[in-house]
Amino acid sequence: MQEALVISGEIPLWLVDGDDRIAFVNDAAVRTLGYDSDDELLGRPSHDTVHWKHPDGSPYPSEDCPITHATRRGEPIRMERDWWVRKDGSMVPISIHCVQIEIDGRMGTAMTFHDLTASVQAEDERRRLEVERARLAEVRASRTRIVEAADEQRRRVVRDLHDGAQAGLVRVVVALQLAQGHGEIPGEASALVDEALADARSAIDELRELAHGLHPAVLTRSGLAAAVQSLTARAPVPVVVEVVDERYPDAVELAAYFVAAEALTNVAKYARASTARVTTTRTASHLVLTVADDGIGGARTAAGTGLAGLVDRLAALDGTLVVTSPPGEGTHIRAEIPLAAGTPRPPATDLDAQHHEVEGLA
Ligand SMILES: Nc1ncnc2c1ncn2[C@@H]1O[C@H](COP(=O)(O)OP(=O)(O)OP(=O)(O)O)[C@@H](O)[C@H]1O
Ligand SMILES: [Mg+2]
Repeated sequence: MQEALVISGEIPLWLVDGDDRIAFVNDAAVRTLGYDSDDELLGRPSHDTVHWKHPDGSPYPSEDCPITHATRRGEPIRMERDWWVRKDGSMVPISIHCVQIEIDGRMGTAMTFHDLTASVQAEDERRRLEVERARLAEVRASRTRIVEAADEQRRRVVRDLHDGAQAGLVRVVVALQLAQGHGEIPGEASALVDEALADARSAIDELRELAHGLHPAVLTRSGLAAAVQSLTARAPVPVVVEVVDERYPDAVELAAYFVAAEALTNVAKYARASTARVTTTRTASHLVLTVADDGIGGARTAAGTGLAGLVDRLAALDGTLVVTSPPGEGTHIRAEIPLAAGTPRPPATDLDAQHHEVEGLA
């Protein structure tokens, strides 16, 4: 079979005499090396014509060539990857098989080789894709780490607010209430105490709002359904909540919560809607959250930082946010969040428990 292919010229064949002169080449060999005819090759020194340099351009002396040495020893040699030089100086990757044969009464060498250009290109492409894939995975992982680090930071700020400023204000409220309980406070002082008490209470409310916006404790404690429900309490329009009451990894719950929070804030600020609806469904791989209103439409992700920030947050988790908001037809926001996003929820810690107690105090 192989012989038939060689004779019919499909496999490049290269015969070299005992002085390393090219004695015969078939058409396939001439074509593979970019020559027009065997006339350009016959009689020339084989190594110095097709094997004189390495792929990096450095010289390849015949003394270094394993084919030369095998030929001298009269041994066959097979090389799975070698590079020969074409007529125009470019390199062609080949596999090569050399055996000794008698040419004009002396031992010479017969070489058959295969052009590996296609498989080398395929291999290069495969390697390039692999590198690209690894790079993308690293970019994705680093975006996830950035989002998670920011979330952790928020959580810490919220904990500090609860344990520090809020606890301090609660003590002020208690002290002022005790002062009120201590019999008559003279006229003007009584009004000042009342005012201080009201200020301290409203500062606590503001702190709680701030903490809630940064990282809602109800989300960590009770999950997405309860957290979304808490968002609707202050909504100016009735909000139907159809959120499945189950737990997901931290990053998934937080992303879903922020989508619901931003979308409902936008409904309140811009939509002029009469009603809104928040739903979740869970597919095998994703949590899908939608927020829809029947308002004026016209929402755009590029206009502010709210929706654009959500797009970035979801992209970091390999999720997507689609905003459909034709003018006059209401707004529909759909977030798809991979359930495997982020690092898995760690078990509840003592710190969480303390955190909730402090919140309970206020
Ligand atoms: N539900 C909605 N109905 C009508 N218009 C909306 C709605 N949601 C958003 N928009 C419009 O899309 C714009 C972009 O919203 P986005 O939340 O990204 O930014 P923003 O609310 O203006 O600013 P930020 O959220 O940073 O405070 C808004 O300015 C508003 O014009
Ligand atoms: Mg907004």
